[in-house]
Amino acid sequence: MKHLTIVALLLGGLCASHTYAVAADASRGARLHGEQCVTCHAARFGNHGNDIYTRADRRVQSLHGLQQQVNRCKNNLQIVWFDEDVNDVVDHLNTTHYRFPQN
Ligand code: HEC
Repeated sequence: MKHLTIVALLLGGLCASHTYAVAADASRGARLHGEQCVTCHAARFGNHGNDIYTRADRRVQSLHGLQQQVNRCKNNLQIVWFDEDVNDVVDHLNTTHYRFPQN
């Protein structure tokens, strides 16, 4: 019984780490971002909603900070996204605007 529990834990661990090993899909992130995020940023930061990411006093200063901010905006809006969706949007924003080094 004890062994079964250990095997189950190991398998669970493998599956969980597999999810994070999948490469983020920036083009999918771009689509999600276009659907859920651009309009509000554009309304507040000029017609081109992406100006928010390149303004001089931008908020986000690291990849970790970007992940937190994407989650913050998503949670405030009560958008239902999987971690995978968040990762895709983070990847899209990072490759297109922020360009923080990937670890
Ligand atoms: C209802 C309006 C609204 C929506 C919709 C929205 N945001 Fe935001 N977002 C804001 C505001 C306002 C700020 C600026 C906050 C500040 O400057 O303190 C912001 C800031 C950000 C920033 C930080 C920009 C910087 O300064 O570096 C990121 C990243 C971001 N939002 C991502 C998203 C993502 C991803 C979505 C879609 C899930 C989203 N936002 C949807 C209002 C919104």
